[in-house]
Amino acid sequence: MFIHNAWYIAAEPDELLSRPIVSRTLLGKRVAVYRGASGQAIALEDSCPHRRAPLSLGTVQGDGVRCGYHGAEFGSDGRCIRVPGQDAVPRAVVPTYPVIERHGYIWVWLGDPDLADGGASIPDGFWVSGDPAWIGGYGRMESIKADFKLINDNLFDITHAQFVHPESFGGEEVQFYRKARPGSDYIDREMSFEVGERSIRFRTHAAALGDEGGPLWRSMLAQSRGLEEWNDPIDYRMEVIWWAPCYTSFHIIVRPSGEPDAPPVEIYNLHAAVPESEGSSHYFYRSVRNYGDASMNSAFIDAVKFVFNQDKPILEGQQAVLGDRDLLETHPISFAGDMLPLQGRRILERMMATELTRG
Ligand code: FES
Ligand SMILES: [Fe+2]
Repeated sequence: MFIHNAWYIAAEPDELLSRPIVSRTLLGKRVAVYRGASGQAIALEDSCPHRRAPLSLGTVQGDGVRCGYHGAEFGSDGRCIRVPGQDAVPRAVVPTYPVIERHGYIWVWLGDPDLADGGASIPDGFWVSGDPAWIGGYGRMESIKADFKLINDNLFDITHAQFVHPESFGGEEVQFYRKARPGSDYIDREMSFEVGERSIRFRTHAAALGDEGGPLWRSMLAQSRGLEEWNDPIDYRMEVIWWAPCYTSFHIIVRPSGEPDAPPVEIYNLHAAVPESEGSSHYFYRSVRNYGDASMNSAFIDAVKFVFNQDKPILEGQQAVLGDRDLLETHPISFAGDMLPLQGRRILERMMATELTRG
């Protein structure tokens, strides 16, 4: 079951530079996304009402599309406006979906269009700043055969990093997430969390973290100062925000220990796990940082992808074990710190229940 009344990332704008119409399955629906002559991004059902050829195999005509099979043309509102070789125009309308371009992505709303909120529920924190102080780039979208909720769980559940990502962020600090308490403070070697109506935020902090911490944090400091390595203790902070249904931001802040006024070295990693079907997802990601130059961008994106590829076999393996079942139907056991992923799932259940009661 999907939450339809939400904004989902359908594509990166760059995808429309290399092909005129992108076909993407979202929430089990085939959607065609293109940019019309007016510059507006448009999304409609990727299915011609004549013989169900995908409209994504057609061409963009003005702000509309022409089906690549028998040439029927449809306006940006989905209405059939021309059939070659005949005067009669059928009263056919291809379903269209509200679209917003924001934060460097094309977002679509597949639910009740009357409930589309003009983009108010697109997470503000899911940005790429135009500020030149923040350097970084996109990863290319990846496909994963796992339900988006398993990916949400994975991003929340940082304790797995010790085993899955030991060479990057799998240090001792991951265990601080088991010591969770409500609040918004950065607590040394513990984690504070706040659960909102549609979001969850958690923060952790470690003063004077030595080489028991994840290697990535010290390498951030080394890179920012043009050094080969950094071996002194660091002050480490991480803030994670998850927004329903599927967006997660990691903000990592490090400084040399004992230099509280030193300019912080920071990274934002943003992850979107957009449902494709009940058992598969599209994973969009990017990484920006406040140091270095553009020549480091591809190494950073490769690093995020490397981490994702470490998670992927686990997530796809979980999905294979689960089959059609949702994780919670299998009565899994829980550890300390699993409470946040469960809270996230509760938020999703509430949103689904609201949709069902609306009918
Ligand atoms: S299938 Fe589209 S015009 Fe025939
Ligand atoms: Fe992971």
